[in-house]
Amino acid sequence: MRVFEITAFGLDNLKVADHPIPELKPGQIRVRIHAASLNFRDVAMCKGHYNRKQALPLIPLADGAGVVDKVGRGVSRFREGDRVAGCFAPDWIDGPPEHKLIRNTLGGPLSGMLADYVILPEQGAVMLPSHLSYREGATLPCAAVTAWNTLTKYRQLKAGDTLLLQGTGGVSIFALQFAKAMGATVIITSSSDEKLKEAASLGADHLINYKTCPDWDQKARKITNKAGVDHIIDVGGGNTFEKSVNCAKVGGFIAVLGAMGGSETPMNLLRVVMNNLTVQGFVVGSRADFEALNEFLGTHQLHPVISDTFRFGDAREAFELMERGEHLGKIVIDFH
Ligand SMILES: NC(=O)c1ccc[n+]([C@@H]2O[C@H](COP(=O)([O-])OP(=O)(O)OC[C@H]3O[C@@H](n4cnc5c(N)ncnc54)[C@H](OP(=O)(O)O)[C@@H]3O)[C@@H](O)[C@H]2O)c1
Repeated sequence: MRVFEITAFGLDNLKVADHPIPELKPGQIRVRIHAASLNFRDVAMCKGHYNRKQALPLIPLADGAGVVDKVGRGVSRFREGDRVAGCFAPDWIDGPPEHKLIRNTLGGPLSGMLADYVILPEQGAVMLPSHLSYREGATLPCAAVTAWNTLTKYRQLKAGDTLLLQGTGGVSIFALQFAKAMGATVIITSSSDEKLKEAASLGADHLINYKTCPDWDQKARKITNKAGVDHIIDVGGGNTFEKSVNCAKVGGFIAVLGAMGGSETPMNLLRVVMNNLTVQGFVVGSRADFEALNEFLGTHQLHPVISDTFRFGDAREAFELMERGEHLGKIVIDFH
């Protein structure tokens, strides 16, 4: 079977290889992958920026979807022919995160989805929503589950709430779609006016270019008539967190997800205290979260936004596009 693997850190070292089709153990399923998708983390993983101690070679990508091609002894959740996606953290079934559950993730340290066949524990996969294609299903495990949890898990986003999203990448565009289905008002930032136009066509109510308007926090406050934003998903980290705090409403909620703009920020914490803010970190989610998301997608008949699709053989170009950040929503690799 075809796989892509890195034998040394660096995107130049992402190369196609021929591996034997893997065999099953009891309790496992074998999935013939039809499509995979990229997250920012996958680029960082391949470059050695995510985990310098990652064992190599590594087959990258956490997200993929396909058809169950064979089931191992004792498997009861799936049958051959089922359309499935893998879970980002295959051992995390339900309940709160635990160290050993959230460190054991596909695409590093575990082998990932950029392979024709992948073995998963039957507990670590979900059925795809029937209205989604394999390409669409492949976008869900990391970005969509994370976006879903930021809006539902510790603070439910309500109709009429204001949500602020940063950038137009995978997580933010999923959150935009979910928030509009929940009846919220969405403010979205981007470095690109073109991307902001596209976000507006997906339902974004207020658009801010964070390059031409570096005081986007003040602009967001103005949009809310100085009341502040109810719910914020912070993906920038170092260069956004202080501004997220500045534009949050008293009692507001800030989901901290990433560090696109660095992981350190010197700031005055008094605003967090005096405004009674809730700051919550996230690491994707459990299988139960994924299943709840799939139900929501089915109810609202939502389809993931995919800006770019590559053929399997062109996988490296997909990583390079992700690195340049020119996409909107998701980048997909189609295996056929
Ligand atoms: N903790 C978790 O569970 C979890 C899960 C998923 C993702 N994440 C993290 O969340 C972040 C976003 O992930 P993603 O998969 O959505 O990535 P993505 O698809 O690459 O999107 C990131 C977008 O953020 C914007 N951006 C880039 N640099 C920025 C900066 N310095 N300040 C503000 N915005 C910036 C860009 O949008 P424009 O081009 O529109 O400007 C870019 O396209 C990453 O840091 C990722 O590691 C965390």
